[in-house]
Amino acid sequence: MKNLIRLPGLIDPHVHLREPGAIQKEDFQTGTKAAIAGGFTTVLDMPNNPIPTVTPEALQQKIDLAKGQLFSDVGFHFGASRESIQYFSKVQDLVFGLKLYMNHTTGELLIEDEFVLEEVFSAWTKEKPIMVHAEADTLKKAISLAKKFNNKLHVCHVSLKEEVEVIKAAKQDGLNISCEVTCHHLFLTEEDVKRLGSYGMMKPPLRSKEDQEVLWQALTDSTIDMIGSDHAPHTKEEKTGKKIPNGVPGLETTLPLLLTAVNKGQLSQEKLIEITLTNPKKIFGIPEQKKTWIEVDMDESYVFKNENLQTKCGWTPFAGMKVTGKLKKVVLRGQLVFDGKNIFGPYGRAMV
Ligand code: NCD
Ligand code: ZN
Ligand code: ZN
Ligand code: ZN
Repeated sequence: MKNLIRLPGLIDPHVHLREPGAIQKEDFQTGTKAAIAGGFTTVLDMPNNPIPTVTPEALQQKIDLAKGQLFSDVGFHFGASRESIQYFSKVQDLVFGLKLYMNHTTGELLIEDEFVLEEVFSAWTKEKPIMVHAEADTLKKAISLAKKFNNKLHVCHVSLKEEVEVIKAAKQDGLNISCEVTCHHLFLTEEDVKRLGSYGMMKPPLRSKEDQEVLWQALTDSTIDMIGSDHAPHTKEEKTGKKIPNGVPGLETTLPLLLTAVNKGQLSQEKLIEITLTNPKKIFGIPEQKKTWIEVDMDESYVFKNENLQTKCGWTPFAGMKVTGKLKKVVLRGQLVFDGKNIFGPYGRAMV
């Protein structure tokens, strides 16, 4: 028996497509094929490339490279750096947000200097979010800056109980703040690192069972606004090498994991749409895609297998896990782009 339901094409506000500069991990074609195979018809790409997206030239180069390669629609985020502040007014209409790294992670982008941080918050447009990678205490710093300069603040990959509490308080305070959670933080804990080794390592790291319960609660009470996969592929060679990079892929596992949660009664179908479509669409100002929808079979179970993935990295921390809820079809602007097995295209657009 099939139990087919139709949903709109989903939005992922936080992916690393790795082009240019790290196409051994992913590129525009493979990354957007992974998006389509995961039910995401729109993704927003992060700027932490080896040569970061912090100048109008780097942004334009990325847009030019993307054109003609995209299976899903792709929008871009600009990177915050000491040098990129001067370009904010020039690029703000071309991007969906400003990404600011306040902790060390993959790539060279990081701002810790108090004075530069003030400049960033003061110079960025009040119309579009500043997306922060700010863990634990650093998050408090980000919130006080957003408050001081009246910014729209979006907190990436919330993972700790204390972060949820701080965001909840800021929302009650009337701040223009939103946040996202990843599926690895919702479905895995620090216990899984023993089994996964470096394949279970990412920033922020997997947390405790208690933190995980708080994240689920925060989804239910709307403290958490959306899912961001933080699709951050690295090759198996890199993940088993000497200097192990942080990050895990997520585009193809997010929707089936969430559908499994719906089937278990952990999440309502309305909530699923809110956190994978309505909220990211509203908060990032993402345009409507006409005649775009996906179809899932709520009752079909399967096991995640590395060899079935579209992402170039060819692995997932969820390999071996059984899920119930399978993507059967994706239609983008009236074109069939996924039939449950094969991907057709490229029919995606660079959203600029
Ligand atoms: C991301 C990456 O590899 O680009 N890694 C990660 O562990 N999340 C960077 C990031 O989002 O912090
Ligand atoms: Zn430091
Ligand atoms: Zn991050
Ligand atoms: Zn990321």
